[in-house]
Amino acid sequence: QLPRRVDVYEVGPRDGLQNELRTLPTRDKARLINALVAAGEKRIEVTSFVSPKWIPQLADAEELLKQVGRRPGVVFSALVPNLKGLERAQAAGLEEAAVFISASEAHSKKNINKTIAEALAGAKEVTAAARKAGMRVRGYLSTVWGCPYEGHVPVERVVDICRQLVDAGIYQLSLGDTIGVGTPRQTEEILTALLQHMPVDTLALHLHDTRGTALANALVGLSAGVTTFDASIGGLGGCPYAPGAAGNLASEDAVFMLHGMGVDTGIDLDKLVEAGEIAQELIGRKLAGKYLQAALGE
Ligand code: HMG
Ligand code: MG
Repeated sequence: QLPRRVDVYEVGPRDGLQNELRTLPTRDKARLINALVAAGEKRIEVTSFVSPKWIPQLADAEELLKQVGRRPGVVFSALVPNLKGLERAQAAGLEEAAVFISASEAHSKKNINKTIAEALAGAKEVTAAARKAGMRVRGYLSTVWGCPYEGHVPVERVVDICRQLVDAGIYQLSLGDTIGVGTPRQTEEILTALLQHMPVDTLALHLHDTRGTALANALVGLSAGVTTFDASIGGLGGCPYAPGAAGNLASEDAVFMLHGMGVDTGIDLDKLVEAGEIAQELIGRKLAGKYLQAALGE
């Protein structure tokens, strides 16, 4: 039996825009986020409080949070890599933050210039400080299905890191197929291993669609009872420190499949397409989302 209701956790403004060569003006980012809220999205990762040297596209995080409309019931989150990022997120009025680490050493070094052990210690420190300040903390684990530098990532290591993050007090752990190499059987194996140690509502899936398997992997998750799926408007996304990473599972594709299977998301698909059209106009090229292109072509 499938869950009756799931959350689509929108990452387009963060995962999508961090990966565009051109930095969007702050007012355009705010316009896109407002359109996502108007479509009924309730959980949106709006930006990152990371080093502007590493991700210049998101250097306007403070200004963006001033410009974007806040609405009760809509939770904005942002990536924080360290205590400095947490302080910035807190000052900007966020009630939720996301820590992020990798399951492979090489990606960890390239992405945040830390070993996995250093990154884990940092994530624990940030989580403790955030919870003390009354914030909720989400956690990401990248390269779970494979690493662009190292290839195979052992599932035992994934389980070990996930358990430590959950013990540290994150409320949800988002498993990243950073470069979109996962296939459904592997997804089943990873979930089976993790579900021996944590309840299913602790887990979210963050699937990049590089090789067209994101929706199939999401379906495996849904069947296993996962109720949070990360997705990005129009299928934007990628990681600048993971060569070859393409966009995330498109929000419209996820919502279309879920609604068609009788699973509620609280999102208005027509309005989501309007937001996708805005994203496409602002970015200035055709986006990869399949449902979006089908709807715009009608
Ligand atoms: P570093 O250079 O090793 O360390 O960066 P640092 O502490 O020496 O900092 C360098 C400079 O950045 C310093 O400035 C710091 O003050 C400043 P300087 O003294 O040179 O003028 N700095 C900051 N500024 C603003 N906010 C901060 C901050 N921290 C330091 N929070 C660091 C280490 C972790 C900071 C850096 O590597 C970094 O910011 N990395 C972020 C990379 C990133 O955002 N990657 C993409 C997101 S992850 C992803 O996409 C995967 C995901 O989607 C899941 C999936 O798909 O798998 C989540
Ligand atoms: Mg990602």
